[in-house]
Amino acid sequence: MVTEIERAVALLKRGELVAFPTETVYGLGADAANPAAVAKIFAAKGRPADHPLIVHLPSAAHLARWAREVPAEAERLAAAFWPGPLTLILKRRPQVSDAVTGGQDTVGLRVPSHPLALELLAAFNGGIAAPSANRFGRISPTTAAHVREELGERVPLVLDGGACPVGIESTILDLSRGTPVLLRPGAIGAADIARVLGRAPETAAPQAEAPRGIGSETPRVSGSLDAHYAPRTPLQLVSSDGLLFALRNALVAGEKVAVLAPTAQAISHDLVAWKQSPSEPAGFAHDLYASLRELDALGCARILVQQPPAGEAWLAVNDRLRRAAAGSGEDDET
Ligand code: TXA
Ligand code: MG
Repeated sequence: MVTEIERAVALLKRGELVAFPTETVYGLGADAANPAAVAKIFAAKGRPADHPLIVHLPSAAHLARWAREVPAEAERLAAAFWPGPLTLILKRRPQVSDAVTGGQDTVGLRVPSHPLALELLAAFNGGIAAPSANRFGRISPTTAAHVREELGERVPLVLDGGACPVGIESTILDLSRGTPVLLRPGAIGAADIARVLGRAPETAAPQAEAPRGIGSETPRVSGSLDAHYAPRTPLQLVSSDGLLFALRNALVAGEKVAVLAPTAQAISHDLVAWKQSPSEPAGFAHDLYASLRELDALGCARILVQQPPAGEAWLAVNDRLRRAAAGSGEDDET
């Protein structure tokens, strides 16, 4: 009998797409060495073709096949955090296709820790290019059902590995510039990286936002566009006091509202849908995208999210929430 993994490998080798679970979010995978296959990712996502993709590897031993320089700091981080939710940006080998790198001189690489992803990568024994398996600009999928909702028949096979344990995308660290630069915060924080490297990474200056869809300049990290991770319902970040105030206003206006807050439901009302969020960062991240999807589907006038505390532990979650608030409520993006 042909196993799901064998089916997946056969599809990838034929240049087809396969969605698979990682510990962060579900990825939409293609053979990274096959530019025609990689092109199908952009078509399925509706994503501009100049956005670079992460190449997923079976192990750190594959690094040198994709990166022309593997600095000692990359080796140390790989030893410390792989398999795991850390993507390293390194100078690419010349044979790495422009379809993967968006024409840049660097390539994003990571070894994911989800057992199904590792099984798939080991069986494929090559690099799998995979962005998050959502339509461009939308909320990343953290279950196989989310992938189906997003992409439907655009993807011939979705490997089901249950809910992703981390729930938000990997930390991205650029090691191609001499100084390590944190491009996207994630479950592995700057302090974790500093412990291994003996120096703290710099943080990328926030990029000026190009007009959405048109993009006068190619973003180095598409996750740095504020249009990302967004529900269709307008999302508003509020303080705990602000939440009660906004709720009262909505009810006076007769608007249906959804709430995501760490406290138990404060107001019982037909017009209020309340979802309690975990009060620590890992749990919050784990549930975040599934909760936003659920609340987005209710047809509310707005989603009110109580802003989590500031501070390092909440950095990645606050980053995604800020983008969700900035990009929400718009009609289909490109
Ligand atoms: O957790 C994750 O990273 C998930 C899972 C599937 O691995 N993937 C993911 O992929 O979030 P995606 O494409 O949605 O986001 C990857 C980010 C993009 O913002 C992209 O611009 C950036 O990585 N990236 C990829 N290659 C890059 C490069 N060479 N230089 C700078 N940024 C790069
Ligand atoms: Mg994405």
